[in-house]
Amino acid sequence: MATERTSLFIFFGGTGDLAYRKLYPSMFNLYKKGTLREHFGVIGTSREKLTDQQFQENVLKSLDVAKTDKEAQKFVSHFVYEAHDVTDKAHYQVLKKRADELDKTYKLNGNRIFYLSLAPSFFGTVAGYLKTEGLTDTEGFDRVVIEKPFGRDYDSAQQLNDALSKSFEEKQIFRIDHYLGKEMIQNIEAVRFGNTIVESLWNNRYIDNIQVTLSEKLGVEERASYYDNSGALRDMVQNHIMQIVNLLAMEQPVSFTDVDIRAEKVKALRSLRVYNVAEASTNFVRGQYGAGDSQRAYRDEDNVPHDSNNDTFVAGKLLFDNYRWSGTPFYIRTGKMLADKFTRVDVVFKKPLIDIFSFPQNQNAPLEANVLTMYIEPHAGFTLRLNAKTNGQGFQTEPINLDYFVDAKDSKATPEPYERLIHDVMKGDGTNFSSWQEVSYAWRFVDQIRKVWDLQKPQFPNYTPGSMGPAAADELIQRDHRQWVYRLNK
Ligand code: NDP
Ligand code: BG6
Repeated sequence: MATERTSLFIFFGGTGDLAYRKLYPSMFNLYKKGTLREHFGVIGTSREKLTDQQFQENVLKSLDVAKTDKEAQKFVSHFVYEAHDVTDKAHYQVLKKRADELDKTYKLNGNRIFYLSLAPSFFGTVAGYLKTEGLTDTEGFDRVVIEKPFGRDYDSAQQLNDALSKSFEEKQIFRIDHYLGKEMIQNIEAVRFGNTIVESLWNNRYIDNIQVTLSEKLGVEERASYYDNSGALRDMVQNHIMQIVNLLAMEQPVSFTDVDIRAEKVKALRSLRVYNVAEASTNFVRGQYGAGDSQRAYRDEDNVPHDSNNDTFVAGKLLFDNYRWSGTPFYIRTGKMLADKFTRVDVVFKKPLIDIFSFPQNQNAPLEANVLTMYIEPHAGFTLRLNAKTNGQGFQTEPINLDYFVDAKDSKATPEPYERLIHDVMKGDGTNFSSWQEVSYAWRFVDQIRKVWDLQKPQFPNYTPGSMGPAAADELIQRDHRQWVYRLNK
């Protein structure tokens, strides 16, 4: 059994899609493992009128267990509900009273986690009232969890952060990036800093380029009203991709603590080249899906304007101007309606300077580059591509793969990202959350691309569902005499 943690949780937006689909099931996993047991309480809030019992029934339904499951019933008995409009200042007193009651019932030592699973426009309001209305005046810890998106550009993110900072210190703010809760993303640090053979080659002398691909098979689904105002650059690059690139690029932290890891991540981001107009136009391309065999074009999706120029695909090249990475580009791409759903990192090493095996009499194909592929999802694992001798007479070479894949049993036992992240908040460990500085550097980089795009009218749609994006994404990398390691029709 895990160590039991003690806290009250108040979920704002407690009847929303995220809460029912991800947050409560993740809390239940923590309950089954013993991290949550006797000393926790949950208040769900939203404007909807529900009794405690109705709310508990809804939460029970979200858990994917039989209604009669005794453990689940015991778990939901810790949940209560309070209809609450977050803009109604006076009502925070009702919430406070309820919080104090649960604190006593479950002996929670005044520990409080405020989870803001709401539209971002409410984040500042809620944080402000939590402080002024005394919900944070307790003996224990007060932590606030903020869902994405954290702003839509640097200025709005700064305003939001200023509002939050009036009520909470940086160490009390946990900005969610669910990719940081994924098992294999966390493995990037283990592989880099736990292996001499990897870390000693992890620089521009030996690595030719690094490729990060977050490919999605689905389209915009029911989220058009959010997505059409965001696009792939803001939705995936500013947060998830920048975090992954940062873990790949940063120097070794002094220790494996949130403070030291964040310090290195910020240092790396400071050497990321922020593009001028010409560089942004050359180094980033965007796309929007058209119609496929049985698929509507993005512009024909529900709630998407017919003349939308929103990006559903992005590919780009990032450059770090520092001693480790100067001259080694990081290529990134992400998009909706692509060939498949997967996330992977391909680290492409430089080829041997001299290929002694490929000479006319030998008719050997030229040596291929070594590639370390980190498969993040769906099948977690690694592959290291090496060149080896082909079995038999003569001396031909061929690429072979050394593989490791997480087996089905371990895969089933892998904590869901939200489970891991909620656990981290209870421990007060900010390692797998985005610090304000990281968020601000990421926005400064992304804003430059966005500004250039806003001035130009794209030729959309420009890729078909089931492909790997527009031709421009291939041209971007081919221009540098390279190609994507993962590509269709090799
Ligand atoms: P939903 O629209 O499903 O839920 C919003 C919640 O907020 C509802 O409980 C709603 O209830 C409540 N709410 C709205 N207005 C008020 C108000 N004035 N006072 C109190 N409660 C209010 O949103 P999601 O659950 O999808 O998203 C929540 C957050 O999580 C957003 O920031 C989103 O960007 C983020 N997110 C969501 C993901 C997802 O998969 N859903 C993925 C990643 C991030 P009511 O209307 O009854 O008040
Ligand atoms: C979310 C984006 O942050 O990540 C979605 O808002 C995207 O648009 C999702 O689909 C992808 O997450 P995952 O874990 O399914 O790769």
